Amino acid sequence: MKLIYFDHAATTAMHPEAIRAYAEAAGAGPGNPSSLHALGRAARERVTAGRDVFAEVLNVSASDLVFTGSGTESDNTALFGAAYAQRKKGKNGIVTTAVEHHAVLNACRKLEMDGFQLTVLPVDSNGIVSLEAAKAAIGDNTAVVSVMAGNNETGTLQPYAEIGEWARTYKAVMHVDAVQAFGYVDFDLQRLPVDLLTLSAHKINGPQGVGLLYVRKGTPFQPLLHGGSQEKSRRAGTENVAGIAAFAKAAEIVSIGREARIAHAENIREAFLSGLEQALGSSGFVINGHPDRRLPHIVNVSFPGVSSESMLMNLDLAGIAASGGSACNSGSLKPSHVLTAMNLAPERVSSAVRFSFGLGNTNEEADKTAKMTATISARLRNR
Ligand SMILES: Cc1ncc(COP(=O)(O)O)c(C=O)c1O
Repeated sequence: MKLIYFDHAATTAMHPEAIRAYAEAAGAGPGNPSSLHALGRAARERVTAGRDVFAEVLNVSASDLVFTGSGTESDNTALFGAAYAQRKKGKNGIVTTAVEHHAVLNACRKLEMDGFQLTVLPVDSNGIVSLEAAKAAIGDNTAVVSVMAGNNETGTLQPYAEIGEWARTYKAVMHVDAVQAFGYVDFDLQRLPVDLLTLSAHKINGPQGVGLLYVRKGTPFQPLLHGGSQEKSRRAGTENVAGIAAFAKAAEIVSIGREARIAHAENIREAFLSGLEQALGSSGFVINGHPDRRLPHIVNVSFPGVSSESMLMNLDLAGIAASGGSACNSGSLKPSHVLTAMNLAPERVSSAVRFSFGLGNTNEEADKTAKMTATISARLRNR
């Protein structure tokens, strides 16, 4: 049985060219980028080349880019790094949203335990944070504002640029988690009022365990990890040279092919949803998240009367991989904090399934999955 992978928001397969870049770098010898000898210099050149790719793609200076070990590490480095530096200037407030990834939410909660004043902004039933609420929450005391670009469970896009403009007027540091949006949304950081931006390699067909943090020049910042002086003393630890080479290759590919990538994901999504509509009728499922202000590759659907766990288990038996929420929540029966924050009825939350599309998926797979999902739904409904 050929498996159908509709869980690209959890992680993606590596692109063959990224695998080649990884293998080439990993096979090139034991170079530590901090070593002064020839092999060390060769490794450093690979890291520099990778950084240059991101500098071009994000339209920033290469010296503002810090490689990390994951999206989670970038989020934590951004939040702790800016919050503590801002505290020295007398600023103590953290503003974020109720639908952030746990890498942001739990870091913010830790900052709250450390004495920062945390404001978690609510969202509407589409999962969008109110610009007015954000404006009301940001003031002279605000140290850091963290608002994600696109949500990992619903795909809903946030007004991060508008909030960033407002944060700027109060000299609050603006952090954006772009882990899911990068590769579908253009991030020209010369134009965007964003001081810190998080990316993760494994969401864009790069390897797991590599992240990037953009730190705008002049942003109050102190390192989270203490050790060597790698990454201009902003992130200690030997760089993941092969991972960075592959991450850069993946970033290059998704940036050059962004329009085609969007069209491909939209196509699969539409095929899937129209298949569901045909098989179940419009009353047989409901979409969670904003209908238009959204990423193309994620769709979150509730099937009335069918629990997420039963649906996912049955899909898995049929060779289809989907997810009940963010990957770190799957396996636990805890209701999604994102859907709960959207104030959806508990039955809608407990019957939600996330399908996410990407490299290699076909319309045929979308069709097959829609039919199988409808069959499972009819079989399990109100059992
Ligand atoms: C929006 C968002 N932020 C952060 C992360 C964490 O990234 P990583 O898995 O690289 O730690 C994820 C991963 O699911 C994510 O979707």
